[in-house]
Amino acid sequence: MQTVILAAGRGTRMRPLTDRRPKPMLPVTDRPLVAHTADAAIEAGATKLTIVVGYEAEAVRSFFGDERAGVPVEFAVQEKQRGTADAVRAAASSLDDEPFVVLNGDALYDVPSLSTLYDTVPAVGSFTVDNPSAYGVLDTDTDGFISGVVEKPEHPPSNLINAGSYVFPAEAQQWLNVEESDRGELELTDVLARTCDEYDVQAVAFDRWLDVGRPWELLEANEWKLSELDPRIDGDVSDDAELSGPVVVEDGATVRSGVVIEGPALVRRGATVGPNAYVRGATVVGEGAKVGHAVEVKNSVLMEGATVGHLSYVGDSILGRDVNFGAGTKVANLRHDGESVRQMVKGELVSTGRRKYGVVLGDEAKTGINTSLNAGVRLPTDGMTKPAESVLYDRINERSDE
Ligand code: G1P
Repeated sequence: MQTVILAAGRGTRMRPLTDRRPKPMLPVTDRPLVAHTADAAIEAGATKLTIVVGYEAEAVRSFFGDERAGVPVEFAVQEKQRGTADAVRAAASSLDDEPFVVLNGDALYDVPSLSTLYDTVPAVGSFTVDNPSAYGVLDTDTDGFISGVVEKPEHPPSNLINAGSYVFPAEAQQWLNVEESDRGELELTDVLARTCDEYDVQAVAFDRWLDVGRPWELLEANEWKLSELDPRIDGDVSDDAELSGPVVVEDGATVRSGVVIEGPALVRRGATVGPNAYVRGATVVGEGAKVGHAVEVKNSVLMEGATVGHLSYVGDSILGRDVNFGAGTKVANLRHDGESVRQMVKGELVSTGRRKYGVVLGDEAKTGINTSLNAGVRLPTDGMTKPAESVLYDRINERSDE
């Protein structure tokens, strides 16, 4: 089944992590988020992938090249992010006159359910959530077929949402010129509505699905994919390092003396851990990243080249590419009132729903020695703190956070 993957968006809610890379290229274990979408699609039966790119398109193109696992990959450019129907329209010239699948490139799908979706024409992937108002909510008719979809309703008719995965009949290629919606976008859900008018559209329920829109969902995505790791030690691990649980140490990575790693954890090529460091929870130490002496890292993602050299604690956090922690920098990841940690998203303070949540640092941010970072704060790309600074509040400029 020919498959269109939508990967043109920037992902402003992921700022500052998407200042220099598109959201679909954010790392989830050993590959970008969109590569998990592509790989799940290939396992489910995709025969050709057309990836719609836009913001920072080159990063996506150069990652994939012209094939993945023997399946041809093509690219379509969406110049302006005008909505999902417009994105598919950009890909239309590469589609054959046959049914086609469309997948949001910023979500994780469970493969068995996705395979069922691929076997059902026409269909829409669905998932049950607690907060349906944030999504397109599906309406079903008395025969169990989908009768329509309501975008982001204030009073959702059900908890069953559109998971951003669709199998359209070939004819839907003629229906991509939709009118602008109330929120000013050209929406694929309007194409779905038309398909529901003309065909019996089935909902295929996903057992597991994760929409990755905000930084804590990137942690969740890594937790999910790390839990599927097959342990493997290809790198250089000191005889007295203690590794337990599923741990992958890639070829070219070094784990030095006195290190304790409690998996699931992934130490990527060129990374160094130790001496005398403690890595636990679902943690990714990215390519060329460094976790040095007397450093504890828990449930965190260190992107490529991030360095936490000495005497630090990093918990439930995301450190962008080439971040540098001055000696003694500590991250708070728990509120003493027991409430979930909150984080600014597009100028609004939002609950992450997590009791344990640390910080998000943009690429190349640097902290001075003994910096304290409060739970939920973000530092901008290239941001800096002074020695002994205590960062209590978010540091991303609100006006640029849109
Ligand atoms: C889109 C769809 C929505 C769906 C969601 C899934 O929303 O319009 O129906 O529930 O993807 O992530 P958007 O992410 O464009 O707000």
